Amino acid sequence: MLNLTYRMKVRFMKTPRGNLMWRRWRARRGDRVGNYADLPDHIRRIVPGKSFVDIGCMWGVNGEYAFIAEEAGATHVAGVDVFGPTPEFEQKKAERGSSVEFVLGDATDPGTIAAIGQRDVVFCAGVLYHHPSPFDLLVALRRMCTQTLILRSSTIPEINGLPNGAVYWPMLTAAERELWNLSGLGVVHQEGISNEFRPDQGYGNWFWGLTPSCLVSLLRTAGFEVEHRFPEAFAQTVICRAVEVAFAHRLPGEDEARRLAEDISAAGVARPA
Ligand SMILES: C[S@@+](CC[C@H](N)C(=O)[O-])C[C@H]1O[C@@H](n2cnc3c(N)ncnc32)[C@H](O)[C@@H]1O
Repeated sequence: MLNLTYRMKVRFMKTPRGNLMWRRWRARRGDRVGNYADLPDHIRRIVPGKSFVDIGCMWGVNGEYAFIAEEAGATHVAGVDVFGPTPEFEQKKAERGSSVEFVLGDATDPGTIAAIGQRDVVFCAGVLYHHPSPFDLLVALRRMCTQTLILRSSTIPEINGLPNGAVYWPMLTAAERELWNLSGLGVVHQEGISNEFRPDQGYGNWFWGLTPSCLVSLLRTAGFEVEHRFPEAFAQTVICRAVEVAFAHRLPGEDEARRLAEDISAAGVARPA
């Protein structure tokens, strides 16, 4: 029953008419509905006087959000990506006499995190659902972020009665993937959804369809408090404050670990699950 109702809801929301009706309904409810085109305004409002990094800065935008941040008065601006820089990035940088720094690296790699260091504002759009371990990516963003995260991600509609739900897209059959194909809304290609998962495409694949509740819970666990959320039917833009990390598993030293093991054995609490 849940299955059928949910599928009908998703099918309706991915038609242009259903999507528009959904946006109007949420706006009438008082929500500030999101839009990809609003990202520059969020950046301009938040970055003056702040250091800034754009994670996933290149595909189709050639560092544009980093240049916008620099123009808006960000103090120390970098962009990170797993490819590039593109000729368009180099040209824009030269034309503007820009100091935007490009770092080639995987955002979850400790070397990349060290190269970026800590920034007041971290911006990351269109990357989270391309990562097989979204929590690890959020933790990496938290390590780089001292104040504000501006994050935009593709999401799936909330599953009523199943909070924190998510769909893992790789290995679904063509028929199962069809529900998540957003071509009707103008999304040209979704690697791993439009076609089957291709390991050689790496982060180009779409991995996770997170519900908004799941996204917020992951953010909180990684140490971000959502201050503003701009919902769309199939995406969320959130502005988050970096807070104390809610989850950390501390590895004890060898002596402490041995004492811990003795205590656990003495208490007899460890039983095969
Ligand atoms: C869908 S594009 C989004 C581009 C742009 N941020 C936007 O919102 O239009 C995703 C970008 O993130 C980059 N990317 C994906 N995974 C990454 C990772 N783990 N570390 C750094 N960049 C990554 C991709 O190469 C690509 O440039």
